[in-house]
Amino acid sequence: MNEASRREDKIPVVQMLVVGFIASAIGIAAGLAIEWFPEAASTQAGPIDHLYDVLIWTSVPVFVLVTTIVLFSVIKFRMRPGEENLDGPPIHGNTRLEVIWTAIPAVILVVLCAYAWIVLVDIEEAKANEMRVNVTGQQFAWTFEYPQSDGKPIKSTQLYLPKDRPVRFFVKAVDVLHDFWVPAFRMKIDAVPGIETKYRVTPTRLGTYPVVCAELCGLGHSVMRATTRVVTPAEFDKWIAEQKAPAQAAGGSGATAEADGKTLFTDGNGAATACGACHTLADAGTTSETGPELDKALAGKDAAYIEEGIVAPEKEIAPGFQGGIMPKNYGDTLSAEELKALVTYLGEVAGK
Ligand code: CUA
Repeated sequence: MNEASRREDKIPVVQMLVVGFIASAIGIAAGLAIEWFPEAASTQAGPIDHLYDVLIWTSVPVFVLVTTIVLFSVIKFRMRPGEENLDGPPIHGNTRLEVIWTAIPAVILVVLCAYAWIVLVDIEEAKANEMRVNVTGQQFAWTFEYPQSDGKPIKSTQLYLPKDRPVRFFVKAVDVLHDFWVPAFRMKIDAVPGIETKYRVTPTRLGTYPVVCAELCGLGHSVMRATTRVVTPAEFDKWIAEQKAPAQAAGGSGATAEADGKTLFTDGNGAATACGACHTLADAGTTSETGPELDKALAGKDAAYIEEGIVAPEKEIAPGFQGGIMPKNYGDTLSAEELKALVTYLGEVAGK
């Protein structure tokens, strides 16, 4: 008798549509209200954010439709006491329904793919007056290189860009896969050993934005970050001129001539990451335990030992710590003066 009664189950299509419609409206409203991305700072960001909104418009109703039918079926057609040995009614398929649920998703997919392709072509369009910046990923730091007409490129661990000037990044990796990502620009590409990947950005907003490594690349992945500074063209030219000044010729990091070891330790040199972000040192008032405590590790050590610890951190790994986390490029990013100031400072204060 049960089987007979089950067969007469009517599916309340109208109710399901109403529930689905309300849920879709709530889902779309929530999807559009949430700030998924940080502030947009490039011409590429606009079309990408718009594409994302369109994806929400289309995918939320599909998700709601499928979820509504699944939940409805689980409740409506659940097994009731006494039905343990019953089989459901035979199903012979429904050609019209199958054609509809194949055709509609196919059309949605083709339209979305076409739209995404148009956005991709748009954001990758070559611009006149493009500036080239070479980006190198290395465990666990970024280096940015600005080719110059005199053949001596400027190197920096901080990304400076002039506002409204189209830039093309040429991205490489030295060791393993990394991924060069500036969320505010919305653009992101893998840095792959052995090949060069590229993308274009035109910064449109002055400000400071994070550069993030978006590919798990080892123990220091989470600290593989840098800063993008979008400045006015005049400020950018001034920065380039400063980098070219003879005093910085040795390192090209851009700090002042009278580098102060303690400031370098706590704040970095405006380019390289500050040591104090990872190391405890009483004199500098830093307390992080990511790396060895320098009051212990460096107490009584000579300048050569301290310098090696900065420029070649892999040579000797402190007991209880894993190698490979500290960036290996301080020899490049600190000028000779800065390195000397840092070594002198650490020699004077460590363990005191
Ligand atoms: Cu480099 Cu993650």
